[in-house]
Amino acid sequence: MASRAEDEAMRHAIALAAFGLGTTSPNPVMGCVILDSQERVVGEGFHAYAGGPHAEIVALAHAGERAKNGTAVVTLESCDSVGRTGPCTRALIQAGIRRVVIAVSDPNPLAGHGATTLRAAGIEVEQGVREEEAAAGNVAWLTAVRRGWPYVTWRVASTLDGRTAAVDNSSEWITSEAARIDVHQLRGEADAIIIGVGTVLADNPRLTVRNVRDGSLAIRQSLRVVVDGDGETPDDARVRDGLAETWIATAAEVGTGPDGLVDLRALLRGLYQRGVRAALLEGGPTLAAGFLSAGLVDRVIGYMAPKLLGAGRPSLSGKELSNGVGVGILREPIDLEFTEITLVGPDIRYTAVPRYPARKPEPSLTAQLTPRVPKKADISAEERASSDIMRGVPIRSGSTKEKGED
Ligand SMILES: NC(=O)c1ccc[n+]([C@@H]2O[C@H](COP(=O)([O-])OP(=O)(O)OC[C@H]3O[C@@H](n4cnc5c(N)ncnc54)[C@H](OP(=O)(O)O)[C@@H]3O)[C@@H](O)[C@H]2O)c1
Repeated sequence: MASRAEDEAMRHAIALAAFGLGTTSPNPVMGCVILDSQERVVGEGFHAYAGGPHAEIVALAHAGERAKNGTAVVTLESCDSVGRTGPCTRALIQAGIRRVVIAVSDPNPLAGHGATTLRAAGIEVEQGVREEEAAAGNVAWLTAVRRGWPYVTWRVASTLDGRTAAVDNSSEWITSEAARIDVHQLRGEADAIIIGVGTVLADNPRLTVRNVRDGSLAIRQSLRVVVDGDGETPDDARVRDGLAETWIATAAEVGTGPDGLVDLRALLRGLYQRGVRAALLEGGPTLAAGFLSAGLVDRVIGYMAPKLLGAGRPSLSGKELSNGVGVGILREPIDLEFTEITLVGPDIRYTAVPRYPARKPEPSLTAQLTPRVPKKADISAEERASSDIMRGVPIRSGSTKEKGED
């Protein structure tokens, strides 16, 4: 059983892990705290970006000699594979660690069997400490790796009467500046942002991650994806401005479903191959209906403005084609469970998880989907201040997209 100090160290390691959200894909986020033989915190770290040192390596460097006979507390089972950074199990063994406390076992077969290797080296290993909490912080990566396509968050902005655009198709005025700032935080945590060609033609969005007030761009930009069956995205569309990578996903490239539209499941598998683990679906009603009717949305984050419109586009629009094939038509209502409701400026932000009738959540994931998913913004000032490794670690610079884990 984990001691009180180990439990507290795990709580801190989970908070540290969240610093990596949005910059570690295709790797998971991960935090590590090293306790010395007297259970005092002597090292801590997190995985900041793909290709950079893993959490254990940062924490061991911080601890130095004090790690000998100590305990490593890690949010995810340490890797046992030789990637760009070498196996963390070897580093823990070489540092003379006596005990390793793990929250979540690694489902990724490429990472190897860290716990087994550690035990074989005579290290005491305890697994499952604060497992649910740590899994919630890594829900996108865990979900994506277990099933082979990215975790999809549908972001929608609507008026109180459920309108997502006016009759003239304009929508950018719906929510407040505070909500738009929040959306850019969500974009920063996603590896890809997906829209349909209808939104390109109506709004011509940039889809960059930026400061809403001064327009300055974040160092790391998410992949922009336009689902565009016939390749109708205009040459001068803002998504083609070169400020971030863009994929115009056409039917010819991705393939089509029975409705003749872009096969969304194939699209997501293609994104996974490109290293995308967390995707943000940003519109509009037709594409959102396509994703939901295929059971491909994992989480909904909605911003509801205290405005009434009376007319305009609803959140979802499905239609029946002349050949009888339904596009984005929900044959049964989809139940959702609210996991968080909060105010962002004057708007309500709700987070909800769909409970698809035909696709019950895998038992192993049920627990992970319910708790609130930690975000970078949740990390307390105290946690930031207490973390030595926050000083000098280039969280965003050098982030690279790789096809495989490291
Ligand atoms: N308030 C909000 O949160 C929000 C967010 C985004 C957009 N909007 C508003 O939404 C409006 C645009 O709506 P929209 O429905 O035309 O845009 P959309 O959903 O972004 O794009 C729809 C298009 O995506 C393409 N598509 C390809 N494969 C698909 C599939 N499997 N399922 C569904 N669609 C597929 C189709 O065009 P092809 O057949 O040519 O491939 C379809 O017409 C604008 O007024 C915009 O302002 C509001």
